[in-house]
Amino acid sequence: MGLPEGFRWGVATAAYQIEGAADEDGRGPSTWDTFARTPGRTRDGHTGDVACDHYHRWPEDVALMAGLGVDSYRFSIAWPRVQPRGSGPVNPKGLDFYDRLVDGLLAAGIAPAATLYHWDLPQPLEDAGGWMERDTAYRFAEFSYLAAERLADRVDMWITLNEPVVVMAYGYAFGVYAPGRTLMLDALPAAHHQLLGHGLAVTALRGRGAREIGLANHYSPAWAASPADRPAADAFDAFMNRLFTDPVLLGRYPDIMGDAPFVRPEDLAVIASPIDFLGVNYYQPTRLKNPAEGPLPFDIVDIAEYPVTGMGWPIVPDAFLSLLRTLDSRYDLPPLYITENGCSFPDEIGPDGAVDDSSRIAFLDAHINAMRTAVREGIDIRGYYTWSLLDNFEWSEGYHPRFGLVHVDYETQKRTPKKSYGWYRDLIAAS
Ligand code: FCB
Repeated sequence: MGLPEGFRWGVATAAYQIEGAADEDGRGPSTWDTFARTPGRTRDGHTGDVACDHYHRWPEDVALMAGLGVDSYRFSIAWPRVQPRGSGPVNPKGLDFYDRLVDGLLAAGIAPAATLYHWDLPQPLEDAGGWMERDTAYRFAEFSYLAAERLADRVDMWITLNEPVVVMAYGYAFGVYAPGRTLMLDALPAAHHQLLGHGLAVTALRGRGAREIGLANHYSPAWAASPADRPAADAFDAFMNRLFTDPVLLGRYPDIMGDAPFVRPEDLAVIASPIDFLGVNYYQPTRLKNPAEGPLPFDIVDIAEYPVTGMGWPIVPDAFLSLLRTLDSRYDLPPLYITENGCSFPDEIGPDGAVDDSSRIAFLDAHINAMRTAVREGIDIRGYYTWSLLDNFEWSEGYHPRFGLVHVDYETQKRTPKKSYGWYRDLIAAS
């Protein structure tokens, strides 16, 4: 109720988290294959080798989406499946997979929304320096072109990058995600080269007829632990919320980028190529205090006064609303899509065979209501994708967190819709 005509309800996933079939049909290795297969990098050594076996079971997964009645499905295209070395020839079988998936979705009345980079960089590109190298931006634009050449006749919505801040911070600065580098503040070139890749990809995609193009950023409202900690909160806000949005929407970097030698004067115009929407991924706010020591301009402190999800993330729907208001006041925004929002809980199949995930229902209900308030206030939000359709490989946490509307038994690959699946289906049907 109260949402714009044509509002899209959806679910989101990402290739490495669900597909499996890691060495099949000519797929090359990605940084996540290398990282997860390195002992000690992921919890209990879990890898995405099999994941939800979606590569083989996608018809069942499309049927689950059809049962939900979603308007759209956000998935990602694995670069190493399409272009195993990250450059050079296409792997036709890789593209064939997405071709089949897209046709299957359209036959079920579901609009495909394709993400081009959800963190699975082809390993040969990482071996050449990965996102620390400018050349990777050009390789990404080329891959985007190849994907759109095959699919843009049927895929309207394209998301270039997913959460580039996480790639820069967790992947290159802190080393807790692939590729596991610990460059701290020296990781900033990985920000610029991803953004340059985004800008170049926008042009490449338009050239192949893509209609709606944007990127999906991760946002987290920055709370100062005390009034004196405002500088820490502002610094975090610049890194987390502005570094990947100001250049795209304002054509300039926040001050933290300084006079970076790797930023060429002409790059900002490329990065600021007009986009058709901004994707917003929201999970939780972050509380900051001034740093005791260390290279970063902030320390993260616990938010203890709210209930938390299975990840320990505080549940604060009001922070989601305030984020949407902040974005709206900061920028002359294009239309927004909520490209991710969701929660993990330790869901189990009960004795009656059902999964009672009432906490997920409460989480989604409260966050969707916050979004409705933002829409009522005049913020142009066109869709909402919940993370995730299925329980899946949650990066360095392996298969422990369960984010799905559908439970997955990883021994048997049996899918069991949770209570939240029925709740989301009813919500969609009623709107
Ligand atoms: C986001 C990622 C997504 C998933 C959720 C829980 O940061 O984009 O792949 O892991 O968190």
